[in-house]
Amino acid sequence: MNKLVGFIGTGSMGQTLVEALIRSKALRPSQILLSNRTRSKAESLAESHPGIRIAENNAELVRKADWVFLCVKPRDYRDVLDEIGGRAGKEQMIISITSPVMIRDLEAALPSKIAKIIPSITHAVLDGTCLFIPGSRLTLRDREELLNLLSAIGTPLEIDERHCRVASDLASCGPAFLARFLEQLARAAGEVTGLPRDTALLLIIRMALGTARMLTEGGFTLESLQERVAVPGGITRKGLDLLERELDPVLIRLFRLTHAKFVEDVEKVRQSLQGAGSKG
Ligand SMILES: NC(=O)c1ccc[n+]([C@@H]2O[C@H](COP(=O)([O-])OP(=O)(O)OC[C@H]3O[C@@H](n4cnc5c(N)ncnc54)[C@H](OP(=O)(O)O)[C@@H]3O)[C@@H](O)[C@H]2O)c1
Repeated sequence: MNKLVGFIGTGSMGQTLVEALIRSKALRPSQILLSNRTRSKAESLAESHPGIRIAENNAELVRKADWVFLCVKPRDYRDVLDEIGGRAGKEQMIISITSPVMIRDLEAALPSKIAKIIPSITHAVLDGTCLFIPGSRLTLRDREELLNLLSAIGTPLEIDERHCRVASDLASCGPAFLARFLEQLARAAGEVTGLPRDTALLLIIRMALGTARMLTEGGFTLESLQERVAVPGGITRKGLDLLERELDPVLIRLFRLTHAKFVEDVEKVRQSLQGAGSKG
């Protein structure tokens, strides 16, 4: 691909995306243009990858780039859209990575082709799922080119925008949720038996890695793996029965909680974006 790709926002996810795209060789540093509110953050990313350029501001970035990834938090969208609104072109693709910013609001603010993706921290190791929600102005070729780029850093999956939150909970928040579960497993093991934390973590992380490989390469499903390890009346079965009883209600509350927060965020963002894009 020979496009110039801009990134507005080089925080945690902007940086992860830039580095993954370079490491996977999907983009050369010379194809990347950055802009960040605190310029020094963009400068330090550019220093690590000679060839990356930094725009004077968001407006300049949008004037130059073919595609623009918006990697800012929901509360910063209004400022960014006002800065780039008058510069964004019809042929440009603007790709938002933020779940509560709805495609229809971006299409109302900008004349450009709009897409939403929800990346995952796991792209740092070129793995995990990148959710993809195309806007109404994308051509078949735009979709193919974007999916092609995303497949270099993980597995892209097109989803309906109404499933964006739950899919993000799984693909994008999931690494944090799973890490917390594994951490609690280590803590509980130590508390009950005195097993040193380092030993517990070593066991748990190798176990998680091996389990993931059994599920992806070993021909097992979640069910068949449980059946294979747990024999009736055995120790694993007792543990599984407890987890099913006690954990299900917690997980139901988890999704209710993320969705309640999402509804709040969507409303806040929608209000903040009324009339956005018209000042640029
Ligand atoms: N982190 C994840 O795992 C993840 C996964 C999927 C999606 N996302 C989404 O990605 C978005 C960014 O998250 P993050 O974790 O990367 O946040 P972050 O670390 O706070 O990064 C946001 C960046 O945007 C910059 N910024 C803010 N306003 C700007 C403006 N007007 N012009 C240029 N740059 C501006 C900030 O600059 P300063 O340096 O001045 O603060 C900061 O570097 C969020 O909407 C989040 O939902 C995150």
